[in-house]
Amino acid sequence: VEDGVHIYAPATVANVGPGFDILGFAMNHPGDEMLIEKTKAAQHIIIDSSGAGLPLGPEKNVATVALDAMLGQLGSKQKFQLTFLKKIAPGSGIGSSAASAAGAVYGANVLLGNPFTTTGLVPFAMMGEEAASGSAHADNVAPALLGGFVLIRSYEPLDIISIPGPEQIFCSVVCPEISIATEKSRKILKTTVPLEKAVTQCGNVAGLVTGLITGNFRLISDSMHDVIAEPIRSFLIPEYENVIQAALNAGALGCGISGSGPSIFALSKDEDTAMMAGEEMDRVFASADIGSSVFISPVNKQGIKLLPEGT
Ligand code: HSE
Repeated sequence: VEDGVHIYAPATVANVGPGFDILGFAMNHPGDEMLIEKTKAAQHIIIDSSGAGLPLGPEKNVATVALDAMLGQLGSKQKFQLTFLKKIAPGSGIGSSAASAAGAVYGANVLLGNPFTTTGLVPFAMMGEEAASGSAHADNVAPALLGGFVLIRSYEPLDIISIPGPEQIFCSVVCPEISIATEKSRKILKTTVPLEKAVTQCGNVAGLVTGLITGNFRLISDSMHDVIAEPIRSFLIPEYENVIQAALNAGALGCGISGSGPSIFALSKDEDTAMMAGEEMDRVFASADIGSSVFISPVNKQGIKLLPEGT
């Protein structure tokens, strides 16, 4: 490694089923590319080559906030130039800010000789999420960094656990062309949960994690329900009920809002079903005159990776 690295940071689905704030996974695509280079400039430089409308001021950009958290811990004065080629639309609910924040610290860590493990980068990337949404959640940044399904067993202290999923499991994500700010969709949530709902949610989280580890598709399917955040947030998404029903009719194991929405994801046990579920979900948005994009992908096992030099 010399003075720059080119990385790929995948999209992620957070809030998997009942796993609000605690369970996410990475997709193979879409994903962002970033070029991260050391610079002698007095402050970080941000270049947006994708026209995504990213904040270019270092104090406002999620990537530089995350970078500064990391550099502060190291006591380093090094500055970086970050060139973004974003493919993950901001505000779409598939971890756009997470890819930027996690990608920046991953690349900078490589250029600094890997002072941190990949898991050790999660808290810094979380600072970027906090800048973007007012909450330092890890259910996008941890799977973006590590790949696969990741459980945040605890926030204080932070305890990140990779959960092995079934060898064959595919996801379909439909992103309608509306944007929802995570900050806003967190504010509408209630801060207390009735005991009965807490019990249901705990049972489903335990069931989902057990189902993923043992490859029990029936258990995954039975457990993919969120009774805490999704019933409230679903009102922000037009056609929500119909989209969910369309995915289930197509044979998906389960589905739900991806992150804080508006994207909706489904998990399926084979690629054909995932394609069908994606098409059917897309059709519902189309029939309501809402444009949308569909992504079908296996669960990404690797997380953020370096791209070969010269690409
Ligand atoms: N767990 C976070 C939330 C994910 O629901 O606010 C945001 O993508």
